[in-house]
Amino acid sequence: MRDQLKNILLEAKKTISEAVSGAELEEIRVRFLGKKGQLTAILRGMGSLSAEERPVIGQLANDVRSQLEALISSAAENIKQQEYEAKIRSETIDVTVPPENCETGKLHPMTNVLRDIYDIFCSMGFSVAEGPEVETVHYNFDILNTPDSHPARSRSDTFYFTDELLLRTQTSPVQAHIMETQKPPIRVIVPGRVYRMDELDATHSPAFNQIEGLVIDKGVTMGDLKGTLALFAKKMYGESAQVRFRPHYFPFTEPSAEMDIMCFQCQGKGCRLCKGEGWIEILGCGMVHPNVLRNCGIDPKEYSGFAFGIGLERLTMRRYNIGDLRHLYENDIRFLKQF
Ligand code: DAH
Repeated sequence: MRDQLKNILLEAKKTISEAVSGAELEEIRVRFLGKKGQLTAILRGMGSLSAEERPVIGQLANDVRSQLEALISSAAENIKQQEYEAKIRSETIDVTVPPENCETGKLHPMTNVLRDIYDIFCSMGFSVAEGPEVETVHYNFDILNTPDSHPARSRSDTFYFTDELLLRTQTSPVQAHIMETQKPPIRVIVPGRVYRMDELDATHSPAFNQIEGLVIDKGVTMGDLKGTLALFAKKMYGESAQVRFRPHYFPFTEPSAEMDIMCFQCQGKGCRLCKGEGWIEILGCGMVHPNVLRNCGIDPKEYSGFAFGIGLERLTMRRYNIGDLRHLYENDIRFLKQF
């Protein structure tokens, strides 16, 4: 039996070392260690041994078994590794094939509109600038010629950090930063978030977005303002877009106006969209007030200019016929997918 065991070990070692696949190894395992395997047969035959020999042979048989098990498992490891390396060598990965079911993102409707606005004004020679959302009373109000009595200054309308520091209520203070640091000619638009103490509802939000515009040069007139903004309306709403300018009041411009476009739904006849007016307000604008120019170190005798402020949410709602402002902020995929 001793010899038999030795032979089994020798033979098994040889076949294991020659095995080239996991399936072959499994066959070897069954052949030697399986229920009907050679080693098992020997263990079964141990009953015929003497009482002295039994434990010795038993021990030997167990040694052989554990050696075989160890050999098989390390051979299996090797084969697995080799098969893996062969697979890697034989396969090529085409990284340009798009994955299945890959959801691509989209631009937010407000981003689309903002980019259109950039395109329109940049084609007219404007550049894009930005300014701080935390402002001083000086830049948000004082330098912009805002009277002390103006309601926007009140603590119930505006978010104050301290007596001097607040969340800007408009992008207009950036006009002042630009005029103080750049020499005319100036042509900029300034996108940005602004804050007012309004309850969130279908048409109001405590944080919303504006695009400010500023043009300063020698001899700029109200005619330039009207021409520029009418062209903007045509590029935004199509060649047939009609605009009108209504007198208005803003502290930082004189004269000031609001620009309306003729309602594109009813062609000025009056409908639900324009609330029967026939016209829809699009922006505020005006000729930069001489006081503002002076406050910013620009001589109003030498230079003049115009400014405007557009509400991005409103423009986006008009463009896509969105009835509730809150949709723009909720990031609901079902809503955003539509654009
Ligand atoms: N800042 C104004 C607002 O928030 C909008 C505005 C009106 C900006 C006229 C301007 C302007 O630059 O000239 O209501």
